[in-house]
Amino acid sequence: MTAPVLQVKDLKTQFFTDDGVVKAVDGVSFDLHPGETLGIVGESGCGKSVTALSILRLVQEPGRITQGQIIFKGSDIVTMPDDDVRDIRGKDIAMIFQDPLSSLNPVLQVGFQIEEAMEAHQKIPGKIALSRAVQLLKQVRIPAAETRVRDYPHQFSGGMRQRAMIAMGLANKPSILIADEPTTALDVTVQAQILELLRDLNEETRTAIILITHNMGVVAGLCKRVLVMYAGRIVEQGPVDQIFKDPQHPYTWSLLQSIPRLDADRKDRLLSIEGLPPDLIKPPPGCRFHPRCRFRIERCFHDDPALMDVGPDQDAACWVTMRRALATDGEAHA
Ligand SMILES: Nc1ncnc2c1ncn2[C@@H]1O[C@H](COP(=O)(O)OP(=O)(O)OP(=O)(O)O)[C@@H](O)[C@H]1O
Ligand code: SF4
Ligand SMILES: [Mg+2]
Repeated sequence: MTAPVLQVKDLKTQFFTDDGVVKAVDGVSFDLHPGETLGIVGESGCGKSVTALSILRLVQEPGRITQGQIIFKGSDIVTMPDDDVRDIRGKDIAMIFQDPLSSLNPVLQVGFQIEEAMEAHQKIPGKIALSRAVQLLKQVRIPAAETRVRDYPHQFSGGMRQRAMIAMGLANKPSILIADEPTTALDVTVQAQILELLRDLNEETRTAIILITHNMGVVAGLCKRVLVMYAGRIVEQGPVDQIFKDPQHPYTWSLLQSIPRLDADRKDRLLSIEGLPPDLIKPPPGCRFHPRCRFRIERCFHDDPALMDVGPDQDAACWVTMRRALATDGEAHA
């Protein structure tokens, strides 16, 4: 296997608030390989965005990376001089967000903003920049790119704006594209088109993609591997196919139970996970999922499980695991 393009090692990012220290990312480690598609999934507030922002060192006050390393092409982003991190942002590692309107400048033409994204890092003559902007818009399947390049953001539909953001992200041929909830604000059809676009671009450009979402279904649409986060930690990781077929952490299992199904009767209530994720200032002792876990045993209340090997390339942090839970809890199949 090729060397990873990114290695996150025991990352901790915390917010020092008046109420206490929010342990938003609490010891996260993973590798990303060139051209890989990696999903990060979990409910709201589990630390997905803070993980992504940490990678680009964009965590705002009162937040700070307190521990760990983020090795990108051999250098540690955590300790790198500011100028070097600025160089990496947008050039080697690009990030796109959920709401393209807030990231696009309303008074500037879309094409100009793409050109600016390029020129921030490369000295390109105007004409070449314009034709490259058109080419990028074509690459993200914007129809009539030659004329639409002059449009302003409000003349684009939501899906087209997200495509334009992706074009900006790709402007400098990054080795990693981080997409944080890129489809959440879009309707289902457009969502599927954006995922298909990201899948095609990943194949065409070999840019590695980190896709952040709370929806397991979205992960399945794009990613080969997935990290499941709960309360600031990775609780399960492995190949998407395998995790869908055979999740071992009760939290992953529950997330999979709550995917909306196209074939389900409309009156069917979506199964959601009971209770709320914990307060990250004072997370529960033992397994952080124990207050919500229907498979918990006595040990879960006080003993914190680490990630353990549960299958080929699959790890889960659970004392019980679904294999055993389902064997002893017949009603869980219902
Ligand atoms: N500026 C901040 N100050 C204090 N706490 C923060 C701040 N930003 C994030 N947090 C906390 O860090 C934790 C992780 O937040 P994060 O934004 O990473 O969640 P997320 O998994 O991306 O959720 P969502 O799906 O809602 O985007 C949350 O508990 C959040 O309240
Ligand atoms: S360790 Fe215990 S509480 Fe935590 S997920 Fe596994 S069974 Fe549930
Ligand atoms: Mg987020």
